[in-house]
Amino acid sequence: MADKNFAAGEKNSKGADVLVTGAAGFIGSHVCEELVKRGLRVVGLDDLSSGRLDNLAPLADHPCFRLVEGDICDATAVDQLFQDEHPAAVAHLAALVSVPRSIDDPDENFRLNLAGSQIVLEAARIAGTQRFVFASSAAVYGDTRAPTHTEEESSKHPLSPYGAAKLAVEHLLCAHAHCFGMSATALRFFNVYGPRQDPSSPYSGVISIFADRLASGAPITVFGDGEQTRDFVFVQDVARGVADAAQFQETGFRVVNCCTGRASSVLDLVQGLAQSYHDEVEPQVFHQAPRAGEIRHSLGDPSGFARVFGWTPATSLADGLRELLASGGRGGMLKQG
Ligand SMILES: NC(=O)c1ccc[n+]([C@@H]2O[C@H](COP(=O)([O-])OP(=O)(O)OC[C@H]3O[C@@H](n4cnc5c(N)ncnc54)[C@H](O)[C@@H]3O)[C@@H](O)[C@H]2O)c1
Repeated sequence: MADKNFAAGEKNSKGADVLVTGAAGFIGSHVCEELVKRGLRVVGLDDLSSGRLDNLAPLADHPCFRLVEGDICDATAVDQLFQDEHPAAVAHLAALVSVPRSIDDPDENFRLNLAGSQIVLEAARIAGTQRFVFASSAAVYGDTRAPTHTEEESSKHPLSPYGAAKLAVEHLLCAHAHCFGMSATALRFFNVYGPRQDPSSPYSGVISIFADRLASGAPITVFGDGEQTRDFVFVQDVARGVADAAQFQETGFRVVNCCTGRASSVLDLVQGLAQSYHDEVEPQVFHQAPRAGEIRHSLGDPSGFARVFGWTPATSLADGLRELLASGGRGGMLKQG
């Protein structure tokens, strides 16, 4: 593994407090920043397949952070990294993150999202890592038709290989906590948005794509009537939740939704973005046929996360959209002036 040492060549001789896989990604980079802000030493692992070094620019030269470029599926190298660092906690976010890609290539989904997670889990077990946090997804629920997804009551019928792998890893985590006395937490992220989400990816979140199109004056395409709803959670709130879970000492397994409990329609988003934009532009919206298989409504109940960790989402959609637009970089408005 190549060591992309962000700490200007300074190897942390004491090892890391937290190892973050997928550190150069959209969510992973915010998680690293949050952990470092808390005074923790962090080592990131990323193969830069969809993540970018730019995302970690705020941590460049920080003595408490370094990035190792490598693949979670390389078991020997992952073992070695855990042996070198002996992290007390791991936040495992590296993944093939696209539902459509997991349907196009189920083998790759299995290799990265299931087998890759097992490699990280096993390396953590051997190194005696005490706490494991896993980036799971609302995709584990599928289309339950329940008005709100709760962790225990809602049925879990994943509709994609991606959702199935996330659910399988939750089960592996549960067994590890039971057999090896780990503190293991699965966080089911709903629709995460915020600065650094890549709008150029066809699989990216709808908010970053809309923001990008608004900035360039391009029309916005809405599939169906636009009344389909999602639970949008701001990335810095998510990062805070991951950091809270990484510091949670109690052994055992728990799974919690990471969401706001507020439903926003796709048309609400278009309006919200237009109002937050400094010119208050009137967006051009074109409707296309609904996408086959698209879930109509997805809303989470965040009370489990509040109960276990005291975590609540602090950022309203209006504030989050404003922050996204102000960020100006990827996932934000590129227009100046
Ligand atoms: N963004 C969301 O709304 C959302 C929702 C639910 C769950 N999640 C989960 O959160 C996690 C982070 O997602 P994201 O949105 O930040 O995506 P992202 O693509 O920005 O981040 C994933 C990171 O993992 C890295 N990676 C991929 N394969 C790797 C490998 N084999 N070895 C090492 N690194 C590898 C990528 O380079 C990238 O930096 C993922 O596990 C994803 O499934 C995200």
